[in-house]
Amino acid sequence: MTLSQAKLAAPIGQEPVVIARNLTQVYKIKRGFFKPADHLQAVSGVSFSVLPGKTLAVVGESGCGKSTLARMVSLIEAPSAGELILGGVDVVKATDPQRHALRRSVQLVFQNPFGSLNPRKKIGSILESPLEINTTLDAQTRAEQARTMLALVGLRPEHYDRYPHMFSGGQRQRIAIARALMLKPGLIVADEPVSALDVSIQAQVLNLLADLQQELGLAYLFISHDLGVVRHIAHDVLVMYLGHAVEQGSKQAIFSQALHPYTQALLASTPGIVGSGATKKRLVLTGELPSPLHPPSGCVFSTRCPYTTTRCRQERPILREVAGQQVACHLAEQFIHPT
Ligand SMILES: Nc1ncnc2c1ncn2[C@@H]1O[C@H](COP(=O)(O)OP(=O)(O)OP(=O)(O)O)[C@@H](O)[C@H]1O
Ligand SMILES: [Mg+2]
Repeated sequence: MTLSQAKLAAPIGQEPVVIARNLTQVYKIKRGFFKPADHLQAVSGVSFSVLPGKTLAVVGESGCGKSTLARMVSLIEAPSAGELILGGVDVVKATDPQRHALRRSVQLVFQNPFGSLNPRKKIGSILESPLEINTTLDAQTRAEQARTMLALVGLRPEHYDRYPHMFSGGQRQRIAIARALMLKPGLIVADEPVSALDVSIQAQVLNLLADLQQELGLAYLFISHDLGVVRHIAHDVLVMYLGHAVEQGSKQAIFSQALHPYTQALLASTPGIVGSGATKKRLVLTGELPSPLHPPSGCVFSTRCPYTTTRCRQERPILREVAGQQVACHLAEQFIHPT
């Protein structure tokens, strides 16, 4: 085990498992042979860190850049700009062996537990495959570890010899989680991991994730469009709109005192969440989500915000600290509750 892996595996001290600074992803969109390519900024200068044993939830509407962020953090895509530090190692400057070790330390769990498991392989073999590829463990040890993992995620020993189609959606997501844990990662990037499941099953999988986090000291980057789900699992929340972080802070801060009108609108549209203060007003989003190819000038939310001023349309607000959380809104102060 390399030093970086050891650092990631053990929840020592309070060193973040991941640090992102101004993480940016720009895609080139070809428009035809003679036309210059367009540039689509999918993620624009997003910064955060996650401590061992903690969950950062990333929320926002479809197309706001959540999965792009997930792909960068899990080293599937290199960022166009910005810094990404995993287990104390700068990913951009890492050597090939270091990057190989870092890949093992971050594992992804996807939304669709049907598509992500090979239908022709038995569960035992699916779980052992990462060990086969990445370690020198012998077959017996690999099988033992797969069986231990089955128990850890709440599946039974006889499931070892079954195929994915013999399981329900919730069980398959347990298998996907088990597979992600086989290499003892420090960070799990979960992209909408419960969105495809029935509500009753969602709670079971969320409870499992919470238990595993406690037991193993895992850090989660948990992506969801559903604030109801986020409320159950998050310690911190990052709200994205058109590739930008518009608000971030502790779950408590975001749910009790959302300072960005976009966060307020998200909260107001989530059933079962009783807003307080500004969020009580049931702010409803109007207008179309702008294309990320042609984002509004000034504040990215200015075309849909009910409070927009001339300044908002002209000057892009930077993320700044207001009342203990980070918010990118010129008017944030007016949403602080009077105490
Ligand atoms: N490989 C790519 N090439 C070009 N554009 C892309 C690529 N991947 C994503 N995009 C664009 O980047 C933006 C962000 O996409 P992303 O998939 O990260 O959003 P998302 O928040 O995960 O959405 P959803 O909730 O629908 O999963 C979108 O406008 C999308 O069309
Ligand atoms: Mg996505």
